[in-house]
Amino acid sequence: MNNLLLEVENQVAVVTINRPKSLNALNSETLSELNQVLTGIQERKDVKVVILTGSGLKAFVAGADISEMVNASPVEGRDMALLACDVFLKLENMPQVTIAAVNGYALGGGCEISMACDIRIVSENARFGQPETSLGIIPGFGGTQRLARLIGKGRAKEMIFTCAQVDAKEAYRIGLANKVVPLEELLPSCKKMADTIISKGSYANSLAKAAINSGLDMDLANGLKYEADLFGLSFATDDKKEGMTAFLEKRKANLTDF
Ligand code: CAA
Repeated sequence: MNNLLLEVENQVAVVTINRPKSLNALNSETLSELNQVLTGIQERKDVKVVILTGSGLKAFVAGADISEMVNASPVEGRDMALLACDVFLKLENMPQVTIAAVNGYALGGGCEISMACDIRIVSENARFGQPETSLGIIPGFGGTQRLARLIGKGRAKEMIFTCAQVDAKEAYRIGLANKVVPLEELLPSCKKMADTIISKGSYANSLAKAAINSGLDMDLANGLKYEADLFGLSFATDDKKEGMTAFLEKRKANLTDF
C-alpha cells in the first residue's frame, strides 16, 4: 500500500489515509487501495469497529486530488466518481461499525468519505466543506446525496452553493459531527467509543445498521417491515439467548456472535 496504513488491535482496525504532502487528498490509487483494504476488513470476524482517519495534524482529507482531476476528461471524471461511489458504499454498508476520526480539514471528498461512516468524531480544528463549485464542478463522491440526507436539504444546499466551511462546533450543531474533542484526544475518544460498541452484540449492531441504512431508502411502512424481519432474525442468534438470559439472571452477558 502506497497511500494507506492499517493497524488492527483489540478488534479495532484503524485505517489511515497517508498522503500528508497533499493533505491526504484522494487520488484513484488511494481509492483502489481503500477498496482492497475494506474488502479484506469486511471479511474479518476479529474486527468489529473500523476507525478511518487522515495522517498529520492538519487534515483528515482535503478532497479529491485536484492535480489528478485537472486534465481529466469527462469520462475519466465519471469513472473516478463511480469508483468512489463503489468504495464509499462498501464503507457505508460493511458489517462493522465505522467511525470517522476527523482530524482537521474534511473538504469535498473528505467531507463525503466521512459521511459514508456511521459516526463522525471530530477534533476542535476540524473544518467541513464542499468547495467543488468554486472549482467549477459539483460534489462527485456523494456530497449532493449524503449531505442532504444528513443535515437536510436547505443546509446542504447552502454549504454546496456558498462553499462555506463549517467549523467543528457548527458541524456538531447541525448534526454533521457526533462529538467534538481536543485533537490529542481524538483517537483515544474514538477507541473508547469503539470499546463501548464492541461490548454490545456485534451481530445485532450489524443488523441495526442494515435496518437504518436500507430503511432510509424505503417508505416508512416498508422500513418498519424490514426492521421486523431483522428483529426476527436477531432471535436466531446465540447472543439473543445469552443477552436475555444474563439479564434475567442478573449477570453480565457474554456476547460472542460475529
Ligand atoms: N488535491 C490535491 N492537492 C491538494 C489538495 C487537493 N484536494 N488539497 C491540498 N493539496 C496540496 C496543496 O496543493 C499543497 O501542495 P504543495 O505543497 O505541493 O503546494 C499541499 O496540499 C498543502 O496545501 P496548502 O498549501 O494549500 O495548505 P493550506 O494550509 O494553505 O490550505 C486547504 C489548506 C484549505 C485545505 C487547501 O489546501 C485547500 O483549499 N485544498 C483544496 C480543497 C478542495 O478544494 N477540495 C475539494 C476537491 S474537489 C472534490 O473533492 C470533488 C469531489 O466531490 C470528489
